[in-house]
Amino acid sequence: MKKIIPILFVVALISCNKQSDQIQALQKRVDSLEKKVAESYKPGFGEFMSGIQVHHNKLWFAGQNENWKLADFEIHEIMEAIVNIKKYQKDRKESEMIDMLNPALDNLDIAIEKQDPKLFKNSFISLTNTCNTCHRKTEFEFNVVKIPDQPPLSNQDFRNQLEKK
Ligand code: HEC
Repeated sequence: MKKIIPILFVVALISCNKQSDQIQALQKRVDSLEKKVAESYKPGFGEFMSGIQVHHNKLWFAGQNENWKLADFEIHEIMEAIVNIKKYQKDRKESEMIDMLNPALDNLDIAIEKQDPKLFKNSFISLTNTCNTCHRKTEFEFNVVKIPDQPPLSNQDFRNQLEKK
């Protein structure tokens, strides 16, 4: 019996050491994963805005061409960017204000659903004004958005292809 106790003690010590080795290994893994997450790429606020800029432009030409399916697609791209700004740019205080676009977007959504060019135009003007309101409020007033004169790229046809056939 006298011999057994020290043996048990040694066994307990070994298993204890093993456990702390395992904990250390796990901690190392957690640290490296945390580093990976912190370093993983996420688009910046300005990149989301550049995306919104393109869809804002395409939305206008889709509406002008009464290509309602394309308009519906473009408006949803803007809505998706808003969701992503709130998800990936939580730290920017401007993100708290991004929902100010919703009333104009909702009206545009109705215009597209009703296929109503007049409501579309008025709601688009109000959307564009809201872009600038936020730019002014966030001291980015030098970034002025307007109703576009031209599509952003020449390799897209905004006419309703389905109707042409
Ligand atoms: C919540 C406020 C807010 C709203 C609403 C908003 N913006 Fe912005 N926008 C910003 C801020 C802040 C920046 C500067 C981003 C940065 O730090 O790079 C910006 C930058 C931009 C830029 C410059 C991007 C670049 O890097 O060149 C464009 C273009 C732009 N916005 C377009 C729009 C359009 C179009 C709308 C409306 C559909 C809009 N914005 C609505 C806050 C807003």
